[in-house]
Amino acid sequence: MEISTDAARAADILRRGGVVAVPTETVYGLAADADNPAAVQRIFAIKGRPSRHPLIAHLSDAAFLSEYLAPNAAAAALAKAFWPGPLTIIGVKTPRVIDAVTGGYPTVGVRVPAHPLTRAVIEALGAGRAIAAPSANRFGRVSPTTAAHVLADLGADVDLVLDGGACEIGVESTIVDVSGQAPVLLRPGAIGAAALAAVLGEEVRAPGDVHAVPAPGTLASHYAPRAAVELLAPHELLQRIATLVERGERVGVISSANVTVPTDAVALLVGGSDSELARGLYAALRQADALGLDVVLAAAPTADGLGEAVADRLRRASAPRS
Ligand code: TXA
Ligand code: MG
Repeated sequence: MEISTDAARAADILRRGGVVAVPTETVYGLAADADNPAAVQRIFAIKGRPSRHPLIAHLSDAAFLSEYLAPNAAAAALAKAFWPGPLTIIGVKTPRVIDAVTGGYPTVGVRVPAHPLTRAVIEALGAGRAIAAPSANRFGRVSPTTAAHVLADLGADVDLVLDGGACEIGVESTIVDVSGQAPVLLRPGAIGAAALAAVLGEEVRAPGDVHAVPAPGTLASHYAPRAAVELLAPHELLQRIATLVERGERVGVISSANVTVPTDAVALLVGGSDSELARGLYAALRQADALGLDVVLAAAPTADGLGEAVADRLRRASAPRS
């Protein structure tokens, strides 16, 4: 395992069937050559991820969309409006997309990430090539937003970590499914439902509104630290902290509201804009574990877009675990 900032070296390793952690504007990805089934298989092994759980194909440029997605006007409009950027578009796949990437589904998720280092890696692989990449964490755990997070999680299991600094956005891309009759928002992210609707000229449905493709990654319990996570309203925070501390629990707080956290609890991430919350969210959840906290109390933001994305990740982190 090595850490590097050299895109050509990363592309070299990918070409030989290696697995490389790459920076994106959302979170770090665990990448393999999307045309190499054995390399893609290694991603599932490293993550401990069920093999029917599809990966996102990351392209270097929207010009290559048609190599991966069957013709789709909605997909083309969204790509034009939001790529490079934090939007994954799900459509019917073309024959070139291998089953190892899609988990055998007839659809595929594609996006053009904004981080220049990773786009350079994909470009170096060759024109029209893609990397398949889920987030670079063990299955069900918190996504990494720095190279150090990747090392802490995956260490020697990856061939190289391409260090592109801390991720600007900090939560995973918005996922919109345009493979069916109506567009469906499968995962909230920085690009909100209103922004999507404005481009599509129609409302984006919630999963369950229509018969959408199964979204295996949208499991209830996900993005979870070891500490328990409890969601509550801002005005409930102080009372709940007092109750837990009284019981001898070590408590951390993540709150969009700017509350004053008493000194017998830890202010992990408090106040700040929705984008500051998103950028710091996963590092805060990791810090909770590093400090050996028992409970993270979270008061989530409510706005569309990043606020909704942060609330969604906190809901999943707080869901009952199997
Ligand atoms: O921001 C991101 O999207 C990051 C960076 C690395 O690009 N990637 C990421 O990948 O979050 P991952 O694998 O952790 O989450 C991808 C999600 C999964 O929930 C998966 O089920 C869903 O996308 N997905 C991918 N292809 C799909 C498909 N054909 N149909 C339904 N869901 C799909
Ligand atoms: Mg993930």
